[in-house]
Amino acid sequence: MTEQPTTSVIVLAAGGGTRMRSRRPKVLHPIAGRSLVGHAIAAARAVRPDQVAVVVGHQREQVVEHLGEIAPDVLHAVQAEQLGTGHAVSVAFEVLGDVDGTALVVYGDVPLLSAETLEEFLANHRDSERALSVLTARVPDPHGYGRIVRRPDGSVEAIVEEKDASDEQRAIDEINSGIVAFDARWGRSALSRIGNDNAQGEYYLTDLVGIAVAEGRQVGAFVVDDVAQTEGVNDRVQLARMGAELNRRIVERHLRAGVTVIDPATTWIDADVAIGTDTVIRPGTQLHGATTIGQDAEIGPDTTLTDMEVGDGASVVRTHASLSVVDAGATLGPFTYVRPGTHVQVGGKLGAFVEAKNTRVGPGAKVPHLSYVGDGEIGEGANIGAGTIFANYDGVAKHRTTIGRHARTASNNTFVAPVTVGDGAFTGAGTTVRSDVPPGALAVSAGPQRTMEGWVAAKRAGTPSAAAAEQALENDPTTAQRSDDQESDQ
Ligand code: UD1
Ligand code: CA
Repeated sequence: MTEQPTTSVIVLAAGGGTRMRSRRPKVLHPIAGRSLVGHAIAAARAVRPDQVAVVVGHQREQVVEHLGEIAPDVLHAVQAEQLGTGHAVSVAFEVLGDVDGTALVVYGDVPLLSAETLEEFLANHRDSERALSVLTARVPDPHGYGRIVRRPDGSVEAIVEEKDASDEQRAIDEINSGIVAFDARWGRSALSRIGNDNAQGEYYLTDLVGIAVAEGRQVGAFVVDDVAQTEGVNDRVQLARMGAELNRRIVERHLRAGVTVIDPATTWIDADVAIGTDTVIRPGTQLHGATTIGQDAEIGPDTTLTDMEVGDGASVVRTHASLSVVDAGATLGPFTYVRPGTHVQVGGKLGAFVEAKNTRVGPGAKVPHLSYVGDGEIGEGANIGAGTIFANYDGVAKHRTTIGRHARTASNNTFVAPVTVGDGAFTGAGTTVRSDVPPGALAVSAGPQRTMEGWVAAKRAGTPSAAAAEQALENDPTTAQRSDDQESDQ
């Protein structure tokens, strides 16, 4: 063993969570884009621990699978039966081994505990001579919590569970958050001495306090003023409340860092989202996952972005987008649906009622109106006409559509992929492009217009259309002549 003080974090997450009434383990329910246990692990990482062990029990297959995704480096300790918090910590030491230094216990269902609080708590413990420190809070309603019993000199004498407490002890408003730090070497041996002779027949971690005091060791409390940081989630009412409170804190952090959020109440930002200064977030915006937004961007209103990368000065209005990249100065919306793998390059545009998937929109290229562009490559400065479809799927496989630089494709075009339109090429309105168009060419597939005069009077007599046509022809008999001219233009 080295002389360096080591830190081992133990995350307790074996409990049942019956009151969630869920098929999903309690600690896997998310708020602000992370599972409850994910929040606990993120806070734990702030103290740069040498090892992290998560104690799993109830529905452990699902919890272990999730931990493999979000934190593959953490150890798992299986507590098959939930015999109490003291027992859970003993199980953790079985996988942590003969560690010395400090052991820090946190709960997997206390999501607002901040990295800063945990760092301060640990530093305070390390600077003391205590065998054990407990993070406590003074609460208006201490019901259900373990109470902190102090001696007249203020030192901690015991932690007494609600069910084991006297009336006098129940009146104490300072509670055990459950978060404790202790000397690992001492704690391991002391844990083997705790019993379960109490109202719940459980092995209480809190009994370490009594053992330390009996041995003449020091025990101290670190009071946190921000009570929400110690609150656990037991049901979905608390989950929603904690989710809203965490969101309020995240939004406030961005406001203080120079982001304008017009309406914090309708703006939801996940914990890991990054936003540059002077960006404006409009009402009804949700920013999820690993989304990053540059400076001076305009996001919203009514926009949901998941795992998006948005550059400086971009504008994203009434858009639903995921797993895509929007470069600086590009614009999305209003009413744009961007699916994974899309990249809108500098100054590019996906406009109203456009769906894009796995498509690169080159610098300054535009898809302004009513289109589906899937599996496409749109060159720099190209313009895609209104009502365009990239027909990417032949029923078996997906194919790519490539549009060259500064090409101009007209309205109501269908590109039957795989197909390539060369640089600077044009297409005519209503064209179905089935074969490649060379650079600089014009492709037109619509046939000449056929106009059958008098068809409505002959085939739809007596309809309002026939009456309207008759009236128009009476007023201006040259109309028929004009349509003839148009046909000869083609
Ligand atoms: C515990 C504390 C109490 C404190 C309260 C704060 C003890 C004896 N009591 O009480 O002083 O005020 O937390 O919320 O420590 N867990 C396991 N395995 C077990 C039992 C629990 O992993 O065998 C986990 C749970 O999943 C949960 C945490 O430990 O994350 C606390 O368990 P819980 O049953 O909620 O403890 P409380 O009785 O509320
Ligand atoms: Ca609890």
